[in-house]
Amino acid sequence: MFSINPLTILLLLPLSLASPINPNLEGRQSATTCGSVAYTVKDTTNCRNAAYSYYGQGGTAGGSTYPHTYNNYEGFSFSVSGTYLEFPLVKNGAYSGGAPGADRCIINTSGVYAGAITHTGASGNNFVGCSGTS
Ligand SMILES: *[C@@H]1O[C@H](CO)[C@@H](O)[C@H](O)[C@H]1NC(C)=O
Repeated sequence: MFSINPLTILLLLPLSLASPINPNLEGRQSATTCGSVAYTVKDTTNCRNAAYSYYGQGGTAGGSTYPHTYNNYEGFSFSVSGTYLEFPLVKNGAYSGGAPGADRCIINTSGVYAGAITHTGASGNNFVGCSGTS
């Protein structure tokens, strides 16, 4: 009789958990690196959630101007449509005001994560894509 070693199931479980139900949605909300700063999925999720929450309330974070409309003058090929919002991307939590740093997450006004961009390595006030955004 064919039997499955329980250890095999344990080893395969992470693979099945990682398998996305919707590959497109799963791929959008991802870890990214901006310049030399590595952000986890949790970091980008915190950014998305905070941005969308403020947007829904018609507010901004701690007296800042964020979130605000991002016009995509740089012409990034986001896989979701706009209108886009930009919000400071920070590590271990969500931006709550003050100096915004160099990095931003981009979501659309429906709350769908579009990507991440950074001033690091860009000229002037422009942005370049973080890893996964081009
Ligand atoms: C946000 O992106 C989703 C997924 O592409 C799309 O269905 C939705 O219409 C977009 N919202 C806006 C405001 O563009």
